[in-house]
Amino acid sequence: MPKLENGLKALVSSLADSPLEGIEQSVSIEVQTAPNPADLTPGEALIAIRSAGLSWVDLLMTSGQYQHMPTLPYTPGMEFAGDVIAVGADSDAIWLNQPVFVDCFSVGPRSSGAYQHAGGFASYAVVPVSVIRKIPTDWTYDQACNFAGNYETAYHCLVTRGQLKADESLLILGASGATGVAAIQVAKSLGARVLATTRTAHKVEQLKQLGADHVICTQGESDGDVRRFRDDVKLLTDNRGVDCVYDGVGGPTSLEAIRCTRFGARFLIVGWASTPDVARGRGRRGAPNANRIPTNLILMKSLDVLGCPAVISTKHDPSLRATRQDDLLLWAEQGRIKPYISHRFQLQNLKEALLAKWTGDIIGGCAILAPDLPLRQT
Ligand SMILES: NC(=O)c1ccc[n+]([C@@H]2O[C@H](COP(=O)([O-])OP(=O)(O)OC[C@H]3O[C@@H](n4cnc5c(N)ncnc54)[C@H](OP(=O)(O)O)[C@@H]3O)[C@@H](O)[C@H]2O)c1
Repeated sequence: MPKLENGLKALVSSLADSPLEGIEQSVSIEVQTAPNPADLTPGEALIAIRSAGLSWVDLLMTSGQYQHMPTLPYTPGMEFAGDVIAVGADSDAIWLNQPVFVDCFSVGPRSSGAYQHAGGFASYAVVPVSVIRKIPTDWTYDQACNFAGNYETAYHCLVTRGQLKADESLLILGASGATGVAAIQVAKSLGARVLATTRTAHKVEQLKQLGADHVICTQGESDGDVRRFRDDVKLLTDNRGVDCVYDGVGGPTSLEAIRCTRFGARFLIVGWASTPDVARGRGRRGAPNANRIPTNLILMKSLDVLGCPAVISTKHDPSLRATRQDDLLLWAEQGRIKPYISHRFQLQNLKEALLAKWTGDIIGGCAILAPDLPLRQT
């Protein structure tokens, strides 16, 4: 094989006080020395990365405000897709020259093992062949690397925890987010009726096109205010309230959403995008600013409040993973789900991309593109 050209990689070398500071202070773009294919150990593959998904978690990790902290320095980018350009001895050569994506729980910064350093915001990654997956038919690299984290989260919340059924009503908070759009598609795939929320008026039509049956704008009179939207929900549910809430937003939006539920509803705790400073910055442990929800309403409304950690749950019950991966790949092949990507950025512009994520400009997925492949082979 010809010698490979050096590439680029992002590096997080220190932890900031907040994600916003992290974008400015913690993330740099460096030269990546091209791996030598001859150094691959048995069972390894070398991937020329084409595209990597940008996630809210990538942002939180720059300040250590996410529950899982990779060892510094690390290359961010939990999910990535590209071409297998070399395999080690005893590796399954069937993957050679194939377009693939990787299992983001097993390599990269969200993983715990020996391949944690193999993040996706880079030109190359060396990974075990066992984590390589075939890209679903007709999907692009950008779609493949905005898949597993988002759709496995939506599946874990709505199927495993929420037990969502056909014809039930679901209120999705933060529906324009990466996991939010995945939740719309998973819920529609299950036959549920989706009520979606957004703060942002110009996202309303787009969310309808992405499958939401109704979209409610939650923006109050001044910036950051959440308006009373329980009446909108009651109107859309014959005054009953929804059967289930998917809450990826937290804060005042959650408090209003509790009032949108029917008696005996399920309230799925997915995340808290509106309150990113729940935990201390710089990786200090503890959560002094944790969200609080009123126990009186939980009692009176007989709510089932369910925590839904997609990765942690699989540590406690590894059997959860195979079923959800199989179901999602089947739905992908059947065309029932397909990641939507609103923004693409070159790797060199990673800071701009992180800022767009922080300010909520992105709808669904975001792709970070590695420098063009032909430039990397001599
Ligand atoms: N449970 C799990 O296993 C799991 C897995 C992945 C992620 N998460 C968590 O789930 C949450 C959502 O993740 P994501 O990937 O969907 O994030 P995302 O792509 O950043 O989307 C979050 C959405 O929430 C809304 N939002 C953001 N800030 C807000 C604010 N101040 N007030 C009201 N709405 C706000 C925005 O929608 P609008 O602009 O349309 O309002 C945004 O599109 C995060 O907290 C993340 O850490 C949990």
